[in-house]
Amino acid sequence: MLASDQPENERIISTQNIEIELLIEAIYQRYGYDFRSYNKAHVKRRILHRVSSLGLNSVSELQHKILHEDDFFDVILKDLSINVTEMYRDPSFYAVMRKEVFPLLKTYPYIKVWHAGCATGEEVYSFAIMLKEEGLLDRAQVYATDFNPLVLEIAKKGIYPVSRIKEYTANYQLAEGHYSFSDYYVARYDSVIFNQDLKKNIVFAEHNLVTDSVFAEVNLIICRNVLIYFNRELQNKVIRLFTESLIKGGYLGLGSKENLMFTDVYEQYTVIDAKEKIYKKKVL
Ligand SMILES: C[S@@+](CC[C@H](N)C(=O)[O-])C[C@H]1O[C@@H](n2cnc3c(N)ncnc32)[C@H](O)[C@@H]1O
Repeated sequence: MLASDQPENERIISTQNIEIELLIEAIYQRYGYDFRSYNKAHVKRRILHRVSSLGLNSVSELQHKILHEDDFFDVILKDLSINVTEMYRDPSFYAVMRKEVFPLLKTYPYIKVWHAGCATGEEVYSFAIMLKEEGLLDRAQVYATDFNPLVLEIAKKGIYPVSRIKEYTANYQLAEGHYSFSDYYVARYDSVIFNQDLKKNIVFAEHNLVTDSVFAEVNLIICRNVLIYFNRELQNKVIRLFTESLIKGGYLGLGSKENLMFTDVYEQYTVIDAKEKIYKKKVL
């Protein structure tokens, strides 16, 4: 069918799709961030939202702004990277980790843990508290990575709004925390600052799961609510990267809507908890 035979609204949509493809390519070439294999619906939604909130007439106008205003790229990176997180998100995931995974981690003299896509760090501090309670924190090296440097700055500080503490305390208890959650932070005005000792073995670093290679050889990888933004092919690629990074007998924890089932390394894992998406790399 010729473009001129298309109904007007279809033509607008397909033109828009072309502009979005070009924008994603432009971001890759100009800034090195590769969103080409992200879930298309997600990328489109976020871009169109930005076009409309700025009152622009087209995606091409947004592209011009991104290419010519370096500072503006931070806004787009934030739009495309969805940094929503919380402490002890899905508390039952943490409770199962503590019960099923930590006893085995305790058998190693030294462990390495990788939080991939850690956002502003709430997940990392949640784990650090749990490692401490299980006597593992002093012999753990924790890597907390994300591709967005702005969220890593917040993660490094470990300062969060006091307004969320009630919810986090409830999550901590549901995650079977052993003590009083308030033992782990100091409140200052409208913020809480997590205890410095929690982060003494944590390295916060930029790492892009799409373009960077294996990060380290680790005993446990936590990558929750990141793969949902990737298409099937990219999910496969990233899970292969995790498989290379894990020691034999190492563990992988994914988000509640993610799983290994459709990846080509599925057979290299045993399922520790199907609901909580916790897997163990086979020894053989
Ligand atoms: C929704 S947050 C998840 C945070 C935390 N893991 C949780 O479950 O609460 C997704 C995070 O993945 C990060 N991310 C997205 N694409 C990434 C990539 N290619 N490499 C590394 N991090 C990425 C985003 O910057 C964001 O901080």
